[in-house]
Amino acid sequence: MILGIESSCDETAAAVVTDAGVVRSNVVHSQIPIHAQYGGVVPELASRNHMLAIQPVIAQALVDAGVTLDDIGAIAVTAGPGLAGSLLVGLQAAKAIAWSRRLPIVPIDHIAAHVHAPFLRDDTYAGAGELRPPYVALAVSGGHTSLYRVDGPGESTVLGQTLDDAAGEAFDKIAKMMGLPYPGGIYIDRLAQRGRADAIDLPRPMLHRDLDFSFSGLKTAARLALDAIFGDAPPDPEHPAFADLAASAQAAIVDVLVAKSLAACKQTGLKQLVVAGGVASNSGLRTRLASAAAKRGVTAFITPARYCTDNAAMIAGLGAALLAAGHGLSGDDLLTLDIHTTRRPAR
Ligand code: KG4
Ligand code: ZN
Repeated sequence: MILGIESSCDETAAAVVTDAGVVRSNVVHSQIPIHAQYGGVVPELASRNHMLAIQPVIAQALVDAGVTLDDIGAIAVTAGPGLAGSLLVGLQAAKAIAWSRRLPIVPIDHIAAHVHAPFLRDDTYAGAGELRPPYVALAVSGGHTSLYRVDGPGESTVLGQTLDDAAGEAFDKIAKMMGLPYPGGIYIDRLAQRGRADAIDLPRPMLHRDLDFSFSGLKTAARLALDAIFGDAPPDPEHPAFADLAASAQAAIVDVLVAKSLAACKQTGLKQLVVAGGVASNSGLRTRLASAAAKRGVTAFITPARYCTDNAAMIAGLGAALLAAGHGLSGDDLLTLDIHTTRRPAR
């Protein structure tokens, strides 16, 4: 049984996962209400609140799984990428438990854990069944928009990545301009369901150019569209163009993500595509990607929404796979463990 710990951004999370990747508990303490008033994550507040939450969250994960620390055989903890002060809180908690209990630690790359998440299993999700490396993975979150070729647990090569904003950041910044709460992706998703996606003409940046992404131009175009509709007045949520803008912006982001993911499959000749990260919970992306992949003979493995946004089950899940492959530090080697000590994907 593996205890997973995640504190890279504004979620304090802990989970217990079996050695075979079955999720026994998955506790996520979100700091969204704390950061929402500032319109984004404030790093110092994030680390302070991780310090308050980390022990109760770990204790809850053990209780929910019906186990004690005596049943835990290893700890998997996010070592990067992320906010330094936030990462340190999870890492120090992991080190303290590992040292006192003589347990090994597997340091985990947060993005590698996102793209391994489809392999998790629980009572209502049977896991990614026939998914086998190598596969293409789209990791799409608030901090990352990257396409990888994945050759095994934690073994990946970057095929393309964003040159400026991440897709989640584009969702959040457009939402912020519209006066929606932080983080805005989910609000755009909900609004888009009653708007017309073809109502406002927005650019599809770099649609047919290699596998890199760029979303900053789309943000500017959305700003201009908003100004054209509402002028200097605050955007009116009751105006029909309000939902249309959400639907059009979502369609523009989704079009680019879908086209590039399938282009990556074509370029690599791989027929399996994993989609993971917070933005992978977007309903428009899930529907469009599933149908576009099917048309091209690609099998899409779309991570269940509860394992898309930041969580520790995905950290423990990748930890289980890496431990089975002989990874893990223990004893005095724990002293060498610091944030950002995981291997980054090759480019
Ligand atoms: O993976 P994640 O929880 O944290 C990072 O590692 O960044 O991703 C958070 C991002 C935020 O930008 C949030 O707005 C976005 O995922 N997000 C969504 C949806 N749910 C979360 N974006 C679009 N539609 C959604 N339903
Ligand atoms: Zn994430």
